[in-house]
Amino acid sequence: MSAPATTRSARPGEGDGNATAARLLRSAAKKSYDPDVDIDWDAPLVEGAIWVPEHRVSLYGTELWERLTPEQRIELGKHEACSVASVGLWFETLLMQRLLKDFYADDPTSDRAQWALTEVADECRHSQMFARLVHRAGVEPYGPIPFVHQLGKLFSVVNWGPAAYASILVAEEVLDRLQREQANDDRIQPLMRQVNRIHIMEEARHVAFARDEVTRGLAGLSRAELAYQRFMCAFTSFFVVRSLINPKVYAAVGIDPAEGRRAALANPHHREMIRFGGEKILAFLDEAGMIAGPGQALWKKSFLLEK
Ligand SMILES: [Fe+2]
Ligand SMILES: [Fe+2]
Repeated sequence: MSAPATTRSARPGEGDGNATAARLLRSAAKKSYDPDVDIDWDAPLVEGAIWVPEHRVSLYGTELWERLTPEQRIELGKHEACSVASVGLWFETLLMQRLLKDFYADDPTSDRAQWALTEVADECRHSQMFARLVHRAGVEPYGPIPFVHQLGKLFSVVNWGPAAYASILVAEEVLDRLQREQANDDRIQPLMRQVNRIHIMEEARHVAFARDEVTRGLAGLSRAELAYQRFMCAFTSFFVVRSLINPKVYAAVGIDPAEGRRAALANPHHREMIRFGGEKILAFLDEAGMIAGPGQALWKKSFLLEK
């Protein structure tokens, strides 16, 4: 039995899932990145360059921030950038599990299934890239706190369809919005900017696919299933957003992790950063009918939704 030489195009009546996937496959074939080649990992880091804009550091504007020297502020920013990168690769791993399960259940020759594998391949490279970034920065790969790391094992078991793709969208778009802000800021460490640029380019396709999955997945759900999907999305998004800054980062500048965490969660600048990151995707999810029901309190608690 011989495999088809090329991916077949969507059959009539297969729905938009395959049509979108076919378009994204063409785009991926034209432009994809290889961080091994497209990033100069041996280039020296720029002395004194920042890793994130100051106003995006979680303690910016707090009393604790005022006590830090300029060098400590850069150091904290570096640790936070690496925390976000390591949490990003953790969630990419969960997304890959979901995509592989979808591929497993699908016709492997369909455009949608082919796209699932293409996105897994993208995320494999991203996760390698984020891990190398953290290693190059000389920072611990913090990831989420141990409880959330364990909880993540359930992600692809309890999340499927719209809830899975909507929470993936929240993670991808929050990261994307912050990365876009930094990609053209020449005060930022060049290695960090290049990683951001590559990620932005490839995420645009992932976002298009996930938006399509959410819109189609929500159509025609029963009331009970809709309530479940809405709650799981809020639940997962809350833990993703709360995990971005691992409290251990504060110890890098001599701040007690619990004290740093408390100050960050109470910091209006930090809350605003989360709201800014989620602004566009929350508008989309709201319009799609995902933001309602018992998950509402979690959306607010996460700072993605204003009280
Ligand atoms: Fe990614
Ligand atoms: Fe992605």
